[in-house]
Amino acid sequence: MCGIVAIAGTETVANRLVDGLKRLEYRGYDSAGIAVRAGPRVERRRAQGKIVNLEAVMAEAPIDGLMGIAHTRWATHGQPNEINAHPHMSGKVAIVHNGIIENFRELRDELQADGRSFESETDSEVIAQLIDKNMNDGMDAVDAFEAALKKLSGAFAIAAIFADDTDLLIGARKGSPLVLGYGEGEMFLGSDAIALAPFTRDVTYLEEGDWVVLTPDSHDIRNVNGERVNRPRVQSAVNESLIERGEYDHFMLKEIHEQPESLARSILPYIDQATQTLNLGDVADKMFAGADRAVAIACGTAYYAAHTAKYWFEQKARLALETDIASEFRYRNPVLPQTGPAMFVSQSGETADTLAALRYCRQNGTPAVAIVNVPESSIAREAAAIVPTHAGPEIGVASTKAFTAQLSVLAVLALNAAKARGHLLPGEEVQAVKSLLALPRKVTEALEAQDGIRAIAETLTQSRDVLFLGRGRYFPLALEGALKLKEVSYIHAEGYAAGELKHGPIALIEKDVPVVVIAPMDELFEKTISNVEEIRARGARVILISDPAGIKAAGNRADHVIPMPEGDEISLPVLAAVPLQLLAYHVAVAKGTDVDQPRNLAKSVTVE
Ligand code: AGP
Repeated sequence: MCGIVAIAGTETVANRLVDGLKRLEYRGYDSAGIAVRAGPRVERRRAQGKIVNLEAVMAEAPIDGLMGIAHTRWATHGQPNEINAHPHMSGKVAIVHNGIIENFRELRDELQADGRSFESETDSEVIAQLIDKNMNDGMDAVDAFEAALKKLSGAFAIAAIFADDTDLLIGARKGSPLVLGYGEGEMFLGSDAIALAPFTRDVTYLEEGDWVVLTPDSHDIRNVNGERVNRPRVQSAVNESLIERGEYDHFMLKEIHEQPESLARSILPYIDQATQTLNLGDVADKMFAGADRAVAIACGTAYYAAHTAKYWFEQKARLALETDIASEFRYRNPVLPQTGPAMFVSQSGETADTLAALRYCRQNGTPAVAIVNVPESSIAREAAAIVPTHAGPEIGVASTKAFTAQLSVLAVLALNAAKARGHLLPGEEVQAVKSLLALPRKVTEALEAQDGIRAIAETLTQSRDVLFLGRGRYFPLALEGALKLKEVSYIHAEGYAAGELKHGPIALIEKDVPVVVIAPMDELFEKTISNVEEIRARGARVILISDPAGIKAAGNRADHVIPMPEGDEISLPVLAAVPLQLLAYHVAVAKGTDVDQPRNLAKSVTVE
């Protein structure tokens, strides 16, 4: 996924474009570039790597003007180098693009057959070349842009400026988000409202197929058929404090420590404070009362949240919940629930595979429910209903507060399903709500283990492999703990069901292999502790994450212990996420990797 910022201004734009880009760097950081209309031509500066490299190029060779576009890239086609960096130019046109042009080979061949030569390996360059060709064929900029749009297939957001048109900025959205911002005599475009926050919170979220013709003091939104349309003009919810790092060294640490607040924001809307009961009554009845089964589809960390919920839905609501990763689900021609919902879990709400899976369900008549952190996102807009998490903007590429927000909202849904299906007695409901409402406080307690976790983390930096084990509702947490560690520290890690160890993975155990075991005291604790003894007998170094009862029962059978607060089957999986996040974070810091923007990753994978 890439980031786009554009300004049709009455004041100089170069520095403001770079400021906006910096707020989008979490979307991708392989290269960055800027193009500005300076006098009768468009000037461009680009650099491989992060935005700081672009700033160095601009310091060497400054450019400025009143109209500009900028881009930070996560490479899909072509090496992440300067020649493939956006903006791409052709003749008098400069464009930036987020997404994939699926028919770019065919278009490139056509344009090359027409005598045009390309400078980059990217799909994006065909957009500039198409528009320029249309203008050379006699069209004005707007018609040339619209004609080019009609030839593109794929998912994209585009912004374009023109050497011959002092005040013209055109943008389009098809499958990748694009936000229009209204300034004082200026207009803005951005991939999300975060990028525009320094300039304005007065925004319009362009809809699928929309394109917009801007000058500094006018906007003209058109739909896919070229008809002028009005779209709602709203105040974006971006809160500065949520997108600044504050006193923390990294966004990831800030967002780990934000979890007491983000959990409270995510849980409270679903609780009737006066009666301390669940408040999704009718919604839950419709979704779950007569459901034969349900499915929950997601990617990455969001999938592990969905998989944790499987245990809650089955054990509390007696509802089968089939969970699957979206990239497998969408191509499997799956058998869908007859009367149950398909739930889609996504922080960004822009993950391509999850969106495609949602569209598959909609096309087959299964109601789609989106559990998302961005209510204006594509997944939210295409779902039949949304159940928002309120984690706030998550800037660190490794998902932390969004994960626990997803868990808490899925727990709310599972409890509502249990109530709707007659499996939750009034006393149980009050107890479950108490457990949810205690989560913020208990996460605060879990965070107090940070110093001990840091000390353990520093012993893992040279490990070649780390295993994570869990049983039952902690098995998905083992998967998540492994993902956190590998994606920020680049150490190979695997999560396993503890009971699976003897079916092969135990061959990996030799002296000092670190094994993180997530085992609060519960009905499966003794079985997991037996696994601990099996691996310790073979030299493993066991790091036990458990609550006071579990730690006491384990005695000296673990080499290291990470304490977590007491809880129940709803709160403990959420609480277990905190030490796993802190462990991964501190290993990464000790290793000196790029914690907030790990190599090869992007915050949201908006391409297949
Ligand atoms: C998790 O730390 C990763 N950033 C990644 O697995 C992420 O959870 C996945 O790409 C899904 O993203 P989404 O929640 O925005 O759909």
